[in-house]
Amino acid sequence: MDIKYDLKPKSQRRTEPFKPDKTLPFGSLRTDHMFIMDYADGEWKNPRIVPYGTIDIAPGATVLHYGQAIFEGAKAFKHEDKEIYTFRLDMNAKRMNKSAEILCIPKIPEDIQMEAVHALIDVDRLWFPEQEGASLYIRPFIFATQDSLGLHVSATYKFMVIISPSGPYYPKGFTKPIKLLITKKFHRAAPGGTGNAKAAGNYAASLQAGEFAAKFGASQVLYLDVTNTYIEEAGTMNHYHILRGGTVIIPEFTDTILKSITSQSIIEIAGKIGVKAKQERVRLDNFIEGIKSGEIIEAGGLGTAAVISPVGEYVFEDGNSINVNNNEVGKYSKKIYDYYTGIQTGKIEAPKGWLQKVEKRV
Ligand code: PLP
Ligand code: COI
Repeated sequence: MDIKYDLKPKSQRRTEPFKPDKTLPFGSLRTDHMFIMDYADGEWKNPRIVPYGTIDIAPGATVLHYGQAIFEGAKAFKHEDKEIYTFRLDMNAKRMNKSAEILCIPKIPEDIQMEAVHALIDVDRLWFPEQEGASLYIRPFIFATQDSLGLHVSATYKFMVIISPSGPYYPKGFTKPIKLLITKKFHRAAPGGTGNAKAAGNYAASLQAGEFAAKFGASQVLYLDVTNTYIEEAGTMNHYHILRGGTVIIPEFTDTILKSITSQSIIEIAGKIGVKAKQERVRLDNFIEGIKSGEIIEAGGLGTAAVISPVGEYVFEDGNSINVNNNEVGKYSKKIYDYYTGIQTGKIEAPKGWLQKVEKRV
């Protein structure tokens, strides 16, 4: 792809490696540049890297009224060789196109999406946060820009990539398990809907549940299916639990569950970590029973931003709650976390194709 570079003058760009002295927040910081490409007249065109800043958008743009927008979340890591590597970005690009299909957005070839991300990281490579546990969070997104109030598929779009030097999603990192609220009041997705797309609207729709969970001191809601029978997701993460003996169970992917790259990765490398992993429909009543009987010894959430976040307590709307593993991080969750982040950071050999070096282009 022929990317046009319209970069900030050198005097206004970061010139030294970024060595933050405080733990970085998740997702708040920006870098010097962003990537943009337009869709019009039936084709993606005009790929460019420009200074990070505001963009022009018509007040009548479809995205502002009807939410035709999708996004991805990926990460890049710096290894001991001082090079930056993106982690399983091809999977994100593939999922972006799956979301595009669901939201009637024109697809972008995976290699083009990946090149856009790599080119942007290359330009802003000095922004990599050199701090234990930090990474470059990558946010590609596509939104509808046609200025039209009629409800129909937009004829024009923008694909953009921004990157954010970030610390852990849950600031206490891996040391303190989170709490989830079990409720039948809110549902994340309905069959035949957009639950398996990373659609912006899914996240807007989840805010209410998040606020409700906070009233119980919980970070997120444990989402159930619309019949309130099966466990679906842990807020913005897939859910997992671990059986005595070390079998990881992740709810089977359906059209109401986002197909997590973290989940798929852990299933792929389970053997190497020394655990078993499988997917099945997980009944809520069996899950609660399993915790009470001691058959389920650990549980938590899986996702790019939050990596592996153990859950130590499930609270019900009546105020009752149930603890898992005495509200402490369990040994299997720790083992999985260490192995997974070991691969990401280059300390443990990665399966072929999982990491891609950000080559120098400019
Ligand atoms: N489920 C939802 C609803 C999410 O938003 C995410 C985050 O991306 C995940 C699961 C985890 O997916 P991944 O591991 O690909 O980040
Ligand atoms: C991610 O895990 O990457 C996500 O996109 C979730 C987001 C709400 C931070």
